[in-house]
Parts: sequence; structure tokens; C-alpha cells
Amino acid sequence: MSDGKQPWLHVVLHEPEIPPNTGNAIRLCANTGARLHLIHPLGFSIDEKAVRRSGMDYREMAPVEHHDSYQAFLDSVKPQRVFAIETGGQRSHVEVEYLPGDALIFGNEGSGLPQSVMDKLPNGEVLTLPMMPNTRSLNLSNTVAIAVYEAWRQQGFRLPE
Ligand SMILES: C[S@@+](CC[C@H](N)C(=O)[O-])C[C@H]1O[C@@H](n2cnc3c(N)ncnc32)[C@H](O)[C@@H]1O
Repeated sequence: MSDGKQPWLHVVLHEPEIPPNTGNAIRLCANTGARLHLIHPLGFSIDEKAVRRSGMDYREMAPVEHHDSYQAFLDSVKPQRVFAIETGGQRSHVEVEYLPGDALIFGNEGSGLPQSVMDKLPNGEVLTLPMMPNTRSLNLSNTVAIAVYEAWRQQGFRLPE
């Protein structure tokens, strides 16, 4: 459930499969003040030790919002812009000017973002983190960290007022 406050950034993991990646994202969102959204089904139980080990103690955990589908996320949060962070995009993640309330959506570890999500991006934009040719895609939680810090850097590493 939303607390009604608009975060500076929404981070959306689509059907993540590997607990430590989600734990790392929980911790990162606590560190940066971004809001984390998990699109179900998850490939694990959110209570698993492996999530908590990478995340943090429950009392310090960033608030996490859960959604039954990507459409449910869109209906509830109503973001003006959603950027897919995925391989094969036309622009890199540093070429966009991020605005408060933007959402970044990331695919899962096994299959990335499905076409059904790509088809429903309000602004149709896919952003890619550069990599060497012929290398495998980046780890999901590394991708989240790199993308979130770029968006936060652009907003002057702003802190709550
Ligand atoms: C491990 S990857 C998905 C791998 C999947 N086998 C594929 O190639 O489609 C998991 C997620 O990390 C993100 N990712 C990994 N490398 C990326 C890159 N170079 N640029 C943007 N996103 C990336 C994407 O969100 C992707 O859906």
C-alpha cells in the first residue's frame, strides 16, 4: 500500500526470481530513498532469509509495495513516465533527464522484461547500460544500483526536506 507520499523515483522489479538480488534492491532503495515495487509472482518468499541477509533488518527495511501485475502497478501509482531498463535499447541510461516521480522497470534474471510490459510503457522508452560486445547481460541488482545512482546524481543526491 502506498503511504501517499510521492517518492523521487519508483524502482520496479518485474517478477524477480533470485532472493539476494531483491534483497540488494531493498537495501539500495533504503539507502537512496527510492520506492521499491515488486510485481508478482515472485520466484521466492519475501520472508526468506536470503532476502533479509542481503536486505537488512526488518525495522530498517525500505517500504516495499507489492502488485499482482504490471497493469496493477500502473493503475495504482499512475506514473507519467516508465523507462524500461533492458538490453537492446536505442539510448543509454545517462541520456535521459530524470524527473521526480519517474519509474524504472527491470526484468527478471531468467528472461528479462516480457514484450507485454514493453508494449505498455507510457512513453515507450527502453534504456540500456553499455557493455562490451559479446558479453552476458549485467547482474540484475548491479543494473538497479547503476541506474538508480545515475538518476539520483542528476537530482543532486537530494535528501528529504
Ligand atoms: C540478467 S538480466 C536478463 C537476462 C536475460 N537472459 C536476457 O538476456 O533477456 C536481468 C535484468 O537486468 C537488467 N539488465 C542487465 N543488463 C542490462 C543492460 N546492459 N542494460 C540494461 N538493463 C540490463 C534488465 O532489466 C534485465 O531484464
